[in-house]
Amino acid sequence: MQEKPFKTSTPPSMTILIDNMPLDAKAAQICDAIANDGYAITEQFLPPLTVNALASEARQLQLAGRMQRASTGKTNRLPNEEIRGDLTHWVEGSEASNPQREYLSRMENLRTELNKSLFLGLFELESHFAIYPPGAFYRKHLDQFQGYKQRQISCILYLNENWQAEDGGQLRLYLDGVAPEPYQDIKPVAGTLVTFLSGRFFHEVLPAQRERISLTGWFRTRSDQPV
Ligand code: OGA
Ligand code: MN
Repeated sequence: MQEKPFKTSTPPSMTILIDNMPLDAKAAQICDAIANDGYAITEQFLPPLTVNALASEARQLQLAGRMQRASTGKTNRLPNEEIRGDLTHWVEGSEASNPQREYLSRMENLRTELNKSLFLGLFELESHFAIYPPGAFYRKHLDQFQGYKQRQISCILYLNENWQAEDGGQLRLYLDGVAPEPYQDIKPVAGTLVTFLSGRFFHEVLPAQRERISLTGWFRTRSDQPV
């Protein structure tokens, strides 16, 4: 057998592998799935250590009283627990921690890939942590506010370790407009990223038995003119 010209204990390239798939390949896979189906479900979008660090940050924010009851609608800023019961905290790029920077840079990579392959003109990401206390839910809704189409792609990264089917808290994604069927239920498992066209998919968060944490973002276009 022929000798290899060199020996190395680490891969020669700097490619980071998760799930045996390079990170760029995950972004490409998301673009393909969105082009074909309008949505994508990606496991292990970020390394487990980063995901766990983000989950602790969300819990710290809650302990520090920095999570707020979420509001509904663009003009209706009042919290309404009959519609949604989560607490949120917006991520600020200027004061981002290292795990948040890692998240933001992966999302930036995804944004440029989406723009290259789907010509969406995505301009920026807005994102918040969300904590659903046990029993909280978010009723069926669309992420584009009525009359405003700035939010183009919804991206939800789940931060829940050891999530079991009996814990509930699925994201129910309605696949045919407002019709109650068909739908796809997605478990909020740590590291899973769900991406979908904000203007197409009605969805809801089913109540969970335990606290449910996520980092949710929307890629937006520049214009915020009512349409
Ligand atoms: C939202 C939302 C879904 C989820 O924040 O708008 O629909 O699975 N979240 O957390
Ligand atoms: Mn939503």
